[in-house]
Amino acid sequence: MTHLTEREQVQAHLARSYQPAAVSADESLQRERIKTLLKAHNATLVAHYYTEDSLQALAEETGGCVADSLEMARFGAASPSSTLVVAGVRFMGETAKMLSPDKRVLMPTLEATCSLDIGCPAPEFSAFCDAHPDRTVVVYANTSAEVKARADWVVTSAIAEDVVAHLHARGERIIWAPDKHLGRFVQSRTGADMLMWEGACIVHEEFKARGIEDMLRVYPQAAVLVHPESPQAVVDLADVAGSTSQLINAARKMTQDTLIVATDRGIFYKMQQAVPDKLLIEAPTGGNGATCRSCAHCPWMAMNSLDKLELCLEEGLGAIEVDDAIRRRALVGLERMLTFRNSL
Ligand code: 13P
Ligand code: SF4
Repeated sequence: MTHLTEREQVQAHLARSYQPAAVSADESLQRERIKTLLKAHNATLVAHYYTEDSLQALAEETGGCVADSLEMARFGAASPSSTLVVAGVRFMGETAKMLSPDKRVLMPTLEATCSLDIGCPAPEFSAFCDAHPDRTVVVYANTSAEVKARADWVVTSAIAEDVVAHLHARGERIIWAPDKHLGRFVQSRTGADMLMWEGACIVHEEFKARGIEDMLRVYPQAAVLVHPESPQAVVDLADVAGSTSQLINAARKMTQDTLIVATDRGIFYKMQQAVPDKLLIEAPTGGNGATCRSCAHCPWMAMNSLDKLELCLEEGLGAIEVDDAIRRRALVGLERMLTFRNSL
């Protein structure tokens, strides 16, 4: 077995700068078939930044949107289409359905979940809230409909800091769930009193400060962009920490022409469009002893594919349903977030 030195590992990783995927003739044909299906079903495709390039391209070319989880929710609710097709993970489909109960909401796969959602089961979370009845319950959008139904506020990473700062200014003490890293980040920015649920994102938790420091020795002029679901030591190295859309905006504004990016590599499709002349490099994940799960790509986002999208439209598969009583309760926190967003 060949052992690479640390420097060789860094050099090998540097080859992983973003390269747009080539589109084959078969894929072009498939995209055309899907466009026809979207039209025939009066459907709009809404895709998250972490889905594969082909899905993001298709959403753009068909008048849908490629966005962060907050904008996906806003766009879907405002869309006049009778069907929304959500390429992302399950909580995004559920959120779309809760905001647009009269629309049909389909997902290419219903298996695509999120480690934050899995790590915050509704019964345990509800008991946790019951034990602290004096606290305002703020949950991240990456949760089930049932957990949202227990919340006073729902937030995404794009708006979490603003909402918590607002609640803190009103003297409210907070229960925060489920992402402990994002919670700690928001707490450090706002000084709010936050009791944390101990969840984490399996993708962002893999980013390593040591690997980024090694990379900065090779690219000392580079800026570091970090999603705040990453560990504290990684956020500490960031020139900018923020949600997916905030990172894309930051990439545009930064003067540096090399960017080391600690979030799911799916973001490079839109980020490279925003900064065509900049070099985008994946932040290192596993470092020494890296495993195949250390790859800066969400395994659940990766379950979305053109094949599954085509099948879901052809057969009407992957319909999202949410119990009406749960939907009504979850809407309270969701609508608060959207109203708050509009007031900013
Ligand atoms: P955004 O809210 O920034 O889109 O992030 C969602 C997510 O799942 C991050 O891992
Ligand atoms: Fe969940 Fe992390 Fe995947 Fe985002 S990247 S959907 S937080 S597991």
